[in-house]
Amino acid sequence: MNSSFTKTPKHILTAGCLICLLGVNLPAAEKNNPGSRAEALLAQMTLDEKIGQMVQVDSKALKDRADVQKYFLGSVLSGGSSDPADGNSAASWLKSVTEFQDQALQTRLKIPLLYGIDAVHGHNNIDGAVIFPHHIGMGATHDPKLVERAERVTAEEVAGTGIRWAFAPCITVPQDPHWGRTYEGYGDDPALVSELGVAATIGLQGKQLSAEPASVLACAKHFIGDGGTTNGVDEGNTVCDEATLRKIHLPPYQATIKAGVGSIMVSYSSWNGVKMHGNKYLLTNVLKGELGFQGFLVSDWAAIDQISPDFKHDIEQSINAGLDMIMIPNGPGKANNYVEFIADLKALVAAGRVPQERIDDAVRRILRIKFQMGLFESTATDRQLTATVGSSEHRAVARECVRESLVLLKNEKQVLPLAKTIKRLVVVGAAADDLGVQCGGWTIGWQGGHGNVTHGGTTILAAIRRTISPATQVTFSPDASDLKDADAVIAVVGEPPYAEMKGDRKELNLAAADVALIAKAKASGAPVVTILLSGRPLVLNSALSDSDAFVAAWLPGTEGLGVADVLFGDFKFTGKLPRVWPASGVRSNSFEKPERPLFQTGFGLTD
Ligand code: BGC
Ligand code: BGC
Repeated sequence: MNSSFTKTPKHILTAGCLICLLGVNLPAAEKNNPGSRAEALLAQMTLDEKIGQMVQVDSKALKDRADVQKYFLGSVLSGGSSDPADGNSAASWLKSVTEFQDQALQTRLKIPLLYGIDAVHGHNNIDGAVIFPHHIGMGATHDPKLVERAERVTAEEVAGTGIRWAFAPCITVPQDPHWGRTYEGYGDDPALVSELGVAATIGLQGKQLSAEPASVLACAKHFIGDGGTTNGVDEGNTVCDEATLRKIHLPPYQATIKAGVGSIMVSYSSWNGVKMHGNKYLLTNVLKGELGFQGFLVSDWAAIDQISPDFKHDIEQSINAGLDMIMIPNGPGKANNYVEFIADLKALVAAGRVPQERIDDAVRRILRIKFQMGLFESTATDRQLTATVGSSEHRAVARECVRESLVLLKNEKQVLPLAKTIKRLVVVGAAADDLGVQCGGWTIGWQGGHGNVTHGGTTILAAIRRTISPATQVTFSPDASDLKDADAVIAVVGEPPYAEMKGDRKELNLAAADVALIAKAKASGAPVVTILLSGRPLVLNSALSDSDAFVAAWLPGTEGLGVADVLFGDFKFTGKLPRVWPASGVRSNSFEKPERPLFQTGFGLTD
């Protein structure tokens, strides 16, 4: 069991006098104990104040900030595209978050707000923040120490904007790469995902969640089986027996709970037809009971709404199943909004349909985390952390991640590394000069975007130009129309940015235009080095045979120099496939491996 959480002593639970409840009479050791403090505070709270703690509203839905105070809200989040109204700099984020916090601190009990955000590959919503490779690339590093350092950097940038909660790490174990969230998972091996999930949790929270200014609450997600849905359909149905669910999808939760992860997000998906958000057996019996999870469970974005057409019923079922905090993207004027939620839950408690003990358990869990994080003592932001957002020190760590994430799949006649003194180098493929494609989804906008989506960072083309000798002539010919006298061609191809819901595919072929581009490069007679930017393995067909060297670069993020570091031999290739690479687009459950893959998990050449 997790040692950083302490059970509440019995006598505190029954303590009645107000002085005791305020903590004045508590023995010294218990005064600072988050469990005792949470219990004492809980005893003073009205039902409205308790229900408020269980509500998390999207910043965009909060048209009137004062609603944080009015409804005693426990949490605010910024969804994938919910930026502050007055700009997307680190400073405007800090200002906006502080304004929400100030509202919470004006409530009767001054319970601080927990602000949450999808910092899933760096602090990726913030303009100018360093963007790390998506998890699939981090999985290819097979390097837990590096994952921990990367998440430490992310924690510093997150905390620098006044935020202390990241909806990360995603510890899904994606099976079918048709799933558009395949890249959010470290790989298809539960042991690898567990090891890196633990490293990420420690990177974000520290050895344990604490009052340290850059200790950021981690959130393991999405419990459970999000990556096991039939045909890799997002938010779909995972069909398997319990032994299989436990074997493939449970180990990363066991491991991160042991490492002290303070929050877990529940999955949109279903298990054998039952929505996870209503599954009491898995949420309460398994997660909180068997695995001893002492933190709190947060729902996914409007996910309880999917249980049934009746919102009030959804609230009843999800809270009774074990959800502690509900993520609500809608404000007044829209269906299933937070005002409605609060009224409904209050009525459900009054009617005895949601037991008072269930509410108390939820609030106790949330408060315990807030006490543990020292939020009651201070919600101030260390401005030195704000100054580190996108710093060169942070970029250096991301560059190291990029270097270690590259997987060399082919290297005929040792065409790689290329000599820095090569005379004429032609770079083809528009993706070579597209920071947005390099970063993928969950970058500034929810689905990501093309082009210069953020400030700072280096495209692969710019990185090549900065790495080769001044005498080398570099030509950028996006459509490969100018290949004349090339001594080598570097082709950068791959998938356009996408995220959840929009990223599912029915086939996995590399785009025909990319295949044709590589064929054109090959026809020039020069050696062709292909760099694939993608969130998953793709079916390569002739693109592989037409390439002399082939590098899977995943979605490396802003630090393109990490690619050039390895292409030109300053560092060696060390990345290994974090999942199987299918030979065809035939749907396959990669864990069971019914189809003979093109490359096995763990494959990767070193030269
Ligand atoms: C995603 C989560 C994310 C949440 C908040 C959901 O749609 O599934 O991974 O944390 O939105 O943006
Ligand atoms: C939000 C995301 C969220 C998604 C789900 C988007 O508008 O920005 O955070 O996950 O909606 O519907």
